[in-house]
Amino acid sequence: LAKIEIKLADIPEGKNATFKWRGKPLFVRHRTAEEIAAEQAVDLSQLRDVQHDNDRVQKEEWLILLGVCTHLGCVPIANAGDYGGYYCPCHGSHYDASGRIRKGPAPLNLEIPEYVFPDEDTVLVG
Ligand code: FES
Repeated sequence: LAKIEIKLADIPEGKNATFKWRGKPLFVRHRTAEEIAAEQAVDLSQLRDVQHDNDRVQKEEWLILLGVCTHLGCVPIANAGDYGGYYCPCHGSHYDASGRIRKGPAPLNLEIPEYVFPDEDTVLVG
């Protein structure tokens, strides 16, 4: 199946870039130091789908996600919602900057695809 190669230098800090991969939106977010610190510090007892930030990223500045809401599959909006990550406008699900569900009807965190970093400036998803 198709893999997609993404050049990380094209994505400035604080931005979420969207790509199309296997017919779905793929999000690549270049997280800021503030976002990383905030997500690392989240109290896991507050989470619906319990996962530490460390278990959702390989490199803490890069968050790689499928842009598919785990409720009914709409595409969430980046840098929106109550938790600074993503907001799904279809029925109001709020995700944090680790892609974890924090509020609204979605049951699960945003899915993380298989990926590797073949070199410092590239991520290969798939
Ligand atoms: Fe996202 Fe329903 S599809 S909240």
